[in-house]
Order: sequence, then C-alpha cells, then structure tokens
Amino acid sequence: MIVKTFVLTAFQQNTRIVSCEKTGKAICIDPGEPSADVAGYIRENRLDLQAVVLTHGHLDHVGGTTFMHTEFPDAEILLHKEEEGLYYALPQQPLAMGMSPHQLRALGMEYDDPPRSTRSVEHGETLDVGDLRFEIRHCPGHTLGHIVLAEQNERAVFTGDCLFSGTIGRTDLPGGDYERLIDSIEKNVMTLDDDFTVMCGHGPDTTVGRERSGNPFLTGLYQIGEA
Ligand SMILES: [Fe+2]
Repeated sequence: MIVKTFVLTAFQQNTRIVSCEKTGKAICIDPGEPSADVAGYIRENRLDLQAVVLTHGHLDHVGGTTFMHTEFPDAEILLHKEEEGLYYALPQQPLAMGMSPHQLRALGMEYDDPPRSTRSVEHGETLDVGDLRFEIRHCPGHTLGHIVLAEQNERAVFTGDCLFSGTIGRTDLPGGDYERLIDSIEKNVMTLDDDFTVMCGHGPDTTVGRERSGNPFLTGLYQIGEA
C-alpha cells in the first residue's frame, strides 16, 4: 500500500491517494479542494483511480469532489447513506458553520452542488482496491454518516474526523454527538490492534496503541459533565 498525503484547504485537511503497489489501482480519500497536484500525482504514477471515498460530507473533505469527478469521470463516488444530506448541502455549509458571506470567496469556500454519489456504502462492507481490502465501518458522532476505512493486512485505519492524534473530532456541528462519537471510536477503532497506524483527517498519523494509552478523551482523563 502506498499512501500519498496532500495537505489542503485553510483547514489543513489530509487528502489522500491510497494505491495498491502491485496493481496500480487506487482510491482518493477525502478530496478537500480542487488540486492539480493530486490529479498530477495520479497521472504521473499511472494509477487507476477506482473511487473517491468520502469519510464524511464536511466541506474541507469534499470540496474537491467535483474536480476529481471532472478529471476522473469513471471513478465511483462513495459515501454513507446517512451522510448524503450533509454532502448535498455543500453550498450551504459555510454559512451553517458560522462563516460570514463576505469571507467565503477569500477563503476559497464557495461551492456549487457536488456530483451525485454513485452508490452508498454500508457498515461492514468491503471495498477491494487491487490487493487492498478496505473494511467500511460506520462511525457516527462527528457527523451522522461518518465512516472509517480499515485495512487489516496493512495494519492501517483512515479515521477522517473521528479520531486525531491526541484528540477527537468536533461534536458541536449539525449531526454531532459526543457520546455517540466516543462509542463509535471504542467500537470501531479501539477494537483494532495497537500496532495499527491511524491516518487522521487532519494532523499527523498516530497508532491505535498510542491513542489507547494517551488520548485524554479515551483514557477517561477528560470527561465532559463530571467534576
Ligand atoms: Fe469534519
């Protein structure tokens, strides 16, 4: 497995091209914004882009979907059914996040309607990309239809905005729910072995073991509502 990361948008989001070394088949996880570098990387390495997979529908993770669809029209566009509402509301998201209309253009955050997803993905289904096999796990809490992708042989999990190095995703935006997020992480990420690399939607990679022992939201050091 080869993972190429592009840090994009004002939110420093990790857009990733993940490819099978042997077959050249690839997916794009969360295209944050239109990026000639991302398209160039795929072409230069002669990768066969099979799908654009959206961990969730927030603007900093899907803002490049239209661009990717234009550049690679044969690639599927995959997301969870419960995330469709947020995804298709992309043009309205900046205002819902509290940004003023006059800020949007300066921040590169004016969006048209995104392309239709080609199909929805469900919890427990697998996505084969050459010799790679990604297990889709539904992890609500940051948003309603957030998914993470686990690759057992490569010992890696792509966690989007559920889990970060030393912290967790926001739960104050529409569809967010703190207890649900903790429950999702416990059931779907912490059940993986300690040696799994955690590739987050923002910031550096970490491991399941490091987060299990040191993430204050998971160790109980930081608990909302308790003295
Ligand atoms: Fe997000």
